[in-house]
Amino acid sequence: MEPDDRASVAHLIYASTNAWYQKNRNMPIFTGPPSDCEIFCRVYEDLDPGRCLLAVDVSTQTIVGSCFVHPRPTHVSVGIVNTHPDYFGSGIARRLLDRVIAEAEAINLPVRLVSSAMNLDSFSLYTRLGFVPRMAFQDMFLPAEKASEIPALPESERVRPATPNDAPAMASLERELVGIQRQKDYEYFLRNRDGIWSASVLESERGDIEGFLISIAHPASTMLGPGVTRTDDGAAALIRAELLNRPGLSPVFLVPAERESLVRRLYSWGARNCEIHFSQIRGAWQQPTGVVMPTFMPETG
Ligand SMILES: CC(C)(COP(=O)(O)OP(=O)(O)OC[C@H]1O[C@@H](n2cnc3c(N)ncnc32)[C@H](O)[C@@H]1OP(=O)(O)O)[C@@H](O)C(=O)NCCC(=O)NCCS
Repeated sequence: MEPDDRASVAHLIYASTNAWYQKNRNMPIFTGPPSDCEIFCRVYEDLDPGRCLLAVDVSTQTIVGSCFVHPRPTHVSVGIVNTHPDYFGSGIARRLLDRVIAEAEAINLPVRLVSSAMNLDSFSLYTRLGFVPRMAFQDMFLPAEKASEIPALPESERVRPATPNDAPAMASLERELVGIQRQKDYEYFLRNRDGIWSASVLESERGDIEGFLISIAHPASTMLGPGVTRTDDGAAALIRAELLNRPGLSPVFLVPAERESLVRRLYSWGARNCEIHFSQIRGAWQQPTGVVMPTFMPETG
């Protein structure tokens, strides 16, 4: 992708994602103008300049597929992936991913992504290419008016806003609990040039960071994540803090379906399920030991 392609790629992301969701779930994902989707190009080009692959129909010179690639020291992450609806099922996404996989294999790194368990097209695309679903996540949200009613937890006293100095400790916690390294992402969110990010950390009694949670509020993406914590209670305190940082909004967040006490607590707050996702990894994978909360903006985990 070149800088001049950004508007076309934003349009492709908008048309592709909305067409799929409209047809299969009877609702669009993006409800504003297509230009809202330029956020994907902007954030991902800031983080990984020149790493978005495009598929072009040479007969019309139109962009018919896109795939953002996020190389990190421990892995290569992929997403968002889109094919134009007129070209669904013609091998566009597979060819884009073949290229990403070949490049990752050449440097001996696993490829990671998060895919919808309710989308057989993307699930099949990835599993045929050798990705393995490793964890299931519940996508949840709280009606906006409920956030202010969530009771504080004992851990809430140890939650504070993150500062740029926290990035190294956040990255090393994720490295320890999840086995991946992406410090530059955390430095980027905490710099917050666009004013769309927010971040909280949970400190231990000793003052170490034992959890963190980022959030984004933008017309194309209102979500909590990424985040990592050692315990379910810590994750709940961070979710509460970031929901309170987004008054009047109803961000979506992904929690591991296996974290029983966290899921139960979220239901007690009034949370609702809206989708199910799998983390899919092609290559080496380490079972996370804490609570991991992936997101779609940015899909770098
Ligand atoms: C998901 C999406 C990217 C797929 O793109 P695409 O270009 O249509 O996919 P492709 O044609 O390259 O590949 C689909 C593969 O899945 C296979 N497939 C599809 N349905 C299948 C099924 N039910 N069982 C087994 N395999 C299946 C196809 O055979 C093909 O594999 P092959 O090339 O080895 O034959 C496209 O539907 C899209 O853009 N959707 C909207 C946005 C979205 O959901 N993006 C994914 C975000 S994670």
